[in-house]
Amino acid sequence: MPTLLIVHHTPSPNLQAMFEAVVAGATTDEIEGVTVVRRAALAATATDVLEADGYLLGTTANLGYMAGALKHFFDQVYYPCLDSTRGRPFGCYVHGGSDVSGTIRGIESITTGLGWEKAAEFVTVTGEPSKADLEKCWELGATVAAGLME
Ligand SMILES: Cc1cc2nc3c(=O)[nH]c(=O)nc-3n(C[C@H](O)[C@H](O)[C@H](O)COP(=O)(O)O)c2cc1C
Repeated sequence: MPTLLIVHHTPSPNLQAMFEAVVAGATTDEIEGVTVVRRAALAATATDVLEADGYLLGTTANLGYMAGALKHFFDQVYYPCLDSTRGRPFGCYVHGGSDVSGTIRGIESITTGLGWEKAAEFVTVTGEPSKADLEKCWELGATVAAGLME
């Protein structure tokens, strides 16, 4: 059964709302036969990545880059996963206070290095997520999960 791995940094209620919407989309009834695994970024391992077929990444913007937790994740898994995960689909959501551009650049650069394929546009939110923002998160989860259905 294909597996979707959600690697997330969720330090506040706004991030929790986005995470829950992504999970709800990925696990909606129309998605059949996809196992969804959730891992906090500081707990995710290279084995989690190798055993999954697609990825959803969630992070805050911090100091013009991704959260240190997600950077740590990539530092841990990059070389162990480099040869084996090329071509796998991924999606991403980012929450910030004002400017998430450096975060997006950083994640695009690393995922390009890994050879992962962007399966949906990044969802970016600043401030409290609106209903429309959370719907975009739901769509993100549903889109990446649907792409893994056999
Ligand atoms: C040390 C620090 C650095 C931050 N740097 C950025 C940044 O570069 N860009 C940005 O948009 N938000 C930045 N933020 C805001 C965080 O992204 C924001 O606090 C996080 O997404 C949680 O948002 P919330 O508390 O509104 O839920 C920073 C926050 C902290 C604590």
